[in-house]
Amino acid sequence: EMEKKTQSNRLVLFPCPYQGHINPMLQLGSFLHSKGFSITVIHTQFNSPNPSNHPDFTFFPIQDGLTAEEISSGNAVAISLAINANCTASFRQRLTQVMEQDPENKITCLIHDDVMYFTKAVAKDLNIPNIMLRTTSVTNFLARTALLRLHSKGHIPFPDSRSLNPLPDVDHLRLKDLPTNNFDTLEKYSELAGNAHDVRTASAIVWNTTDCLEQSSLAQIQQQCPVPIFSIGPLHRIEAAASSSLLEEDTTCIGWLDKQSNNAVIYVSLGSVASINEKELAEMAWGLANSKQPFLWVIRPGSVSGSNWMEQLPQGFIEEIGERGYIVKWAHQRKVLSHRAIGGFWSHCGWNSTLESLSEGIPMICTPSFGDQNVHSRYVSLVWKVGLHLDNELERGEIERAVRKLMVDADGGVMRVRAKDLKEKIEVSLRNGGSSYSFLNKLVELIMSL
Ligand code: UDX
Repeated sequence: EMEKKTQSNRLVLFPCPYQGHINPMLQLGSFLHSKGFSITVIHTQFNSPNPSNHPDFTFFPIQDGLTAEEISSGNAVAISLAINANCTASFRQRLTQVMEQDPENKITCLIHDDVMYFTKAVAKDLNIPNIMLRTTSVTNFLARTALLRLHSKGHIPFPDSRSLNPLPDVDHLRLKDLPTNNFDTLEKYSELAGNAHDVRTASAIVWNTTDCLEQSSLAQIQQQCPVPIFSIGPLHRIEAAASSSLLEEDTTCIGWLDKQSNNAVIYVSLGSVASINEKELAEMAWGLANSKQPFLWVIRPGSVSGSNWMEQLPQGFIEEIGERGYIVKWAHQRKVLSHRAIGGFWSHCGWNSTLESLSEGIPMICTPSFGDQNVHSRYVSLVWKVGLHLDNELERGEIERAVRKLMVDADGGVMRVRAKDLKEKIEVSLRNGGSSYSFLNKLVELIMSL
């Protein structure tokens, strides 16, 4: 009955154009589509998703006004600010068009990434309710709030950015774990984060997290936040969502994994944004080689500064590893992590990667490079205790020991067991009666009531 009612309801999604944001937004879209809603995705030309992966959705690009220089700068803060500054008119025009083309199928609400805050005013103006999607953890939100507060009081930059002193108001974090980045100035970052934090027009906040991972942070945010929060994650587990990858996925690595023994392989990937230098590449390479464990390593083209792909791998490394290692440009990560051969994940701890690993019961080695990754690395190692946080500069000996501890050594056993326990808890939260399950139902009810 619910489905019949939802059918004449159109939802418009506006993702933030980065891989770590597009994935959860389209996963949410797949879930809502399964409940009978029609899904229209309005998106920037920059990093535009591939419509053919989602035949059930309607896609409309808008002019984003980004210059070639802005795009090639890789400055995610400046790019996000520019989209917010540039897109009001083109978004408004598209939205009006969608409404006029199909007047029977009214737009029930706009669901937008919190970073794409310009969409809120347009929706409000057209009398369309809006729901905000937050694609990173609640704990990171609390840490970012602390960062904005310290900045506004003039306490940042600190005399020592590596300070081990505890961060006020956020459990388990130190000042050095604050989610800062080097894309742009702190002023610019504060502008972006401050606008993304503004919930005044939102009917609800959808959060890609789940109670069993962030209970105390969720309780804390619920006290402060005037808008209802739906913690419905991990979104990638809800509906068998199609891949929304921006890069071509190498499929041959699955065949290579098929030849490996159970839980033997460490999967290495630093996500879609982070980059490393030649020295770090060499330490990673020799650490992996010396661990003697089989590994599947994603080296994203352009992620090693000063080269196109893996030209800077140290001499003798490829010969040394022989069949024991496999290197690809990009993988179908969810598929890889669910493969029986994977026993560990060496990750930068982007929130999606963290959720994907925890959902599969895979323990982690954490080497964060910026932003929320610092926060998640702390939580993986200290709170959930399912991984090792490498806090220092990458060093081959430390890497080799970490890989062996994670994958085979007896003293890593407790961590491996805990990872399996956490996987079970996440599954329970998604089953009938679980917290994410109930929030998903409540979300559908709320949308129907708008
Ligand atoms: C960015 C930020 O860096 C991250 O900290 C923030 O939480 C979200 O935005 P990214 O660095 O790409 O994201 O990390 P992550 O959140 O882990 O998202 C990466 C996505 O790409 C994951 O869903 C992962 O499955 C996918 N991926 C990664 C692939 O499909 N193939 C790969 O080879 C690597």
